[in-house]
Amino acid sequence: MHESLVKHVIPALQMKKKQKEIYILDICFGLGFNTLATLLYAQENNITSKINIYSPELDARLVKSLNDFTYPKEFDCFKNIIEILVKDGIYDDDSFHIEVFVGDAREYILKFEQEKFDVVYQDAFSPSSNPMLWTQEYFKDIASIIKKDGILTTYSIALATRLALHENDFYIYVNKGENYRDATLASLSKIQALKEVDVAHKISCNPDAASLRD
Ligand SMILES: C[S@@+](CC[C@H](N)C(=O)[O-])C[C@H]1O[C@@H](n2cnc3c(N)ncnc32)[C@H](O)[C@@H]1O
Repeated sequence: MHESLVKHVIPALQMKKKQKEIYILDICFGLGFNTLATLLYAQENNITSKINIYSPELDARLVKSLNDFTYPKEFDCFKNIIEILVKDGIYDDDSFHIEVFVGDAREYILKFEQEKFDVVYQDAFSPSSNPMLWTQEYFKDIASIIKKDGILTTYSIALATRLALHENDFYIYVNKGENYRDATLASLSKIQALKEVDVAHKISCNPDAASLRD
């Protein structure tokens, strides 16, 4: 849960918490830690924005098994949300709207209108084990559905990942803090408060580096 908070939830919600509504794409649902950590952080920090989370997950059996998974105690208050998501795929109340789609993330992201999302949690398996969710073409699709001032969060600091984002006009930033390894933030806008990665310099030091392609 610490990783979810520091690498995804805190940087995203700190930037977006003044909005009336926040739209988050959570790639991919897995056990739902990023989604549940988002709800918990919003509750504990009195964030009043309505939080809308959309999340694909390929593994239908995993989703079905979530009712039996032993989550950290802090998530006890969200047990009913998990039950409803497992049963119906959609949960909605005044504070949260959550949709879990069982299927392929690459297909799922094509159904959204342009510039829908304020936040993308890019938390697929690693580029080596799950390459289709890290390619230049994948991030092209993400670039069209994230807002111009949206923020993408990922644990990956691989140059190939950063190049795939950079080639789609994302600015690349370092997410640095105590008690966790550096991670990456990316946005189609310049964000003065963040430390930008000099991608041109990285390329000149690593002339053979390349983004993944479909
Ligand atoms: C690292 S886990 C995600 C962890 C999750 N964000 C969490 O907070 O618990 C990666 C997940 O991606 C799913 N996955 C892999 N390829 C996928 C695809 N093409 N579409 C949707 N989900 C996929 C896997 O089944 C796995 O559950």
